[in-house]
Amino acid sequence: MRRLRVACVGTGFIAGKHLQALSQMGDVEIVAVADTQPERAEEVATRYGARPHTDGATLLATEELDAVWLCVPPFAHGALEAAAIARGLPFFVEKPLALDLPTAQGIADQLAGTGLTTAVGYHWRHLDVVERAVELLAGRPAQLVTGYWWDKTPRVPWWPRRAYSGGQVIEQTTHLFDLARHLAGDVDTVTAAERAAADGAEDVPTAASSLLRFASGAVGSVSSARVLAGRHRVALHVVADGLVLEVSERGLTDHELLVGTERGTEVLRSEQDPIAAEDREFVDVLLGRTARTRVPYEEALRSHALACAADRSAREGTRVHLGEGGRR
Ligand SMILES: NC(=O)c1ccc[n+]([C@@H]2O[C@H](COP(=O)([O-])OP(=O)(O)OC[C@H]3O[C@@H](n4cnc5c(N)ncnc54)[C@H](O)[C@@H]3O)[C@@H](O)[C@H]2O)c1
Repeated sequence: MRRLRVACVGTGFIAGKHLQALSQMGDVEIVAVADTQPERAEEVATRYGARPHTDGATLLATEELDAVWLCVPPFAHGALEAAAIARGLPFFVEKPLALDLPTAQGIADQLAGTGLTTAVGYHWRHLDVVERAVELLAGRPAQLVTGYWWDKTPRVPWWPRRAYSGGQVIEQTTHLFDLARHLAGDVDTVTAAERAAADGAEDVPTAASSLLRFASGAVGSVSSARVLAGRHRVALHVVADGLVLEVSERGLTDHELLVGTERGTEVLRSEQDPIAAEDREFVDVLLGRTARTRVPYEEALRSHALACAADRSAREGTRVHLGEGGRR
C-alpha cells in the first residue's frame, strides 16, 4: 500500500495533536519535522522516527514529500506557504491563516488556479454536533447569533503580543467567527470595540466585543475576554424560529450541542477528536478517497477576513463592510 510522505513545520502544542493522529494512520509516514527551537525538533523527530530540521524552508527544499502540515504561530505565515505552493505541495495549515488579512490574501492569490489541495484547522466543522446544528437550521434560518470566548491568556510566549499572535479576536475567537459563518452565512458589516491592555508589553486587548449584520438579515454579536483564571465559556448560540442552539467547547475533544425547542431542551455530547478527523479527511483527499476538504484555504480566508474586520473595526473605531463573498 502506498504511504503518504508527510512533514510538519512547527512542533509545539497543536503539532503534537496532528502528529499523534498522523502516527496512528497506517497509510501515512512522518518523514520530517522542523522547529526553530532545535531541541523541540530533535525530540519530536526522535519520537516519530523522522528527520529534524531547524528551518521550515530547508525542510521544504530538501525533503521528498506528498504533503506538509504548517503548525506555526500566526507571525510565521507567508514564506512557508509560498515555498509549498512553489513546489506544488498540498498543505494543511492551522488557523489563523496569518496575523493579518493581506498576508493571507497574498497566499490565496498564489494558490488561485493551482488546483492544490489545502485544508485549514477550523476543526469545529468536523464535529458531529456541528453537522447536527446545520441540519436543524435547514429551512429555519438563523435570526440571532451570539458567541463568547471567555478564557485565560494562553501561556505560549508569542500570544500576548499583537505583533506575534494578531490578538485574541484573530487568533482564538476566529473559531467562533468561522462557526457563525458556517451556521448563518456571510457577514456584511462589523462594528467592534476593545478594552486596551494596561500592560504595554502584553498589548493584546483584555476584552473585545463586535456587532455583526449578516447578508441574510440576521444579526449577531461575538465577545472575547482573556483575563480569567481558566476557560469559563467558549460557545456560540443561534436563535431561529422556535429553535435555540448552543454549540460549546470545553476542550479539543469535549464538545456539546444544546437544542431548545417547544418540546424542551436536549443536550448532545461529543467526545469526537476533530483534529484526527480533519487530518483523516485531508489524507483521504490526497489518496483520492474523498473529493474535497471541507475547509480549503479559500473558504477559511472568508472567516479570517471576518475576524480581521472585527479586529480592525475595534482598532480604528469604524464600521467595516465586508466585500462580495465576505472578504475585504
Ligand atoms: N485548532 C485549534 O484549536 C488550535 C489549538 C491550538 C493552537 N492552534 C494554532 O496553531 C498554531 C500554533 O499554536 P501552538 O499552540 O502549537 O503554539 P506553540 O508555541 O506551542 O508551537 C509553535 C511552534 O512553532 C515553532 N515556530 C515558530 N516559528 C517557526 C518557524 N518560522 N518555523 C518553524 N517553527 C516555528 C515554535 O518554536 C513552536 O515550537 C497557532 O496559530 C494556533 O492558533 C490551533
